[in-house]
Amino acid sequence: MGDVESMKKQAGIAACEFVKSGMKIGLGTGSTVKHTVIEIGRKIIDENLEIVGVPTSLATEKLALEVGIPLVELSDIDGLDLVIDGADEFDPNFQLIKGGGAALLREKIVAQESLAMVVVADERKKVETLGAFPLPIEVTPFSHEATVRALGRLLDCRVNIRMSGNGPVITDNGNMIADAHTGPKITNPIKTESEILMIAGVVQVGLFNNMCDAVVLAGSSGIETFVKPNGRLSD
Ligand code: A5P
Repeated sequence: MGDVESMKKQAGIAACEFVKSGMKIGLGTGSTVKHTVIEIGRKIIDENLEIVGVPTSLATEKLALEVGIPLVELSDIDGLDLVIDGADEFDPNFQLIKGGGAALLREKIVAQESLAMVVVADERKKVETLGAFPLPIEVTPFSHEATVRALGRLLDCRVNIRMSGNGPVITDNGNMIADAHTGPKITNPIKTESEILMIAGVVQVGLFNNMCDAVVLAGSSGIETFVKPNGRLSD
C-alpha cells in the first residue's frame, strides 16, 4: 500500500475512537472515510458495536450495506450524534473545502444535522488559506453556463463544469459540479460562502464553515488529532 493510501487508512480507522455504541452516525464519502465505514462494519461484527448510520452518498450507502451497517433515513430520526467525513482542505480555523467527490450537498445536509463533525484526512489536506483545491459548487443543470459565468464574475477566476469522459459529472441529486479555481486566496470563507449562495442556480457550495470540531490527521510520523478549541468536542 502506498504512503498516501496507508495514511488514509490510518486516519479512517483512528477516527472510530469517537464512535460509541448507541450513536447515530453520519457516514461521509471519499477514499479516506471509506476506511472508517469498513472499520465500523468490523466493530459491529467483532465487538457488538450498536450504531445506525446515515450515508452521505449512494456510494457510501452501497459500502455501508456491504459491511453490515444498519441505515436509517435522516428524515426519520431527530438528528445525528456525529458525522465523520473527509475533506479536500482544512485551514487553521477548521474551515473546510469539500466536494472533491461531488457529494457536497448530502454531506452538508448530514453535517448540519449532526451534533459534532470529525474530519479524517492526510497531511496534504492541511493548508494556511483555502482555495488551492478548486472549490466545488453544485449547480442546477438549467442554464448552468449562465451560473458558471456569474460565479466567474463573483470570484474573478476560471470556473468550469466538472467532466467525466465526454459528459458532465452528474451528482446523486441530478445536478452538476462547477469547480472554481480561486487559488489559495479564500481568506474569508464565511463571506465567500454567503456570496456564492446568493447566486441563483447555485444549489450548494463546498465551503463547510463552523461545522468541523476535530481533525484526525495522518502524517508520516503517525496520527494526530486536533480538536477545535471551544468546539463541540472540546472539554
Ligand atoms: C466528497 O464529495 C468529498 O467531500 C470528500 O469528502 C473529500 O473530497 C475527501 O475525499 P478523499 O478522502 O477521497 O480525499
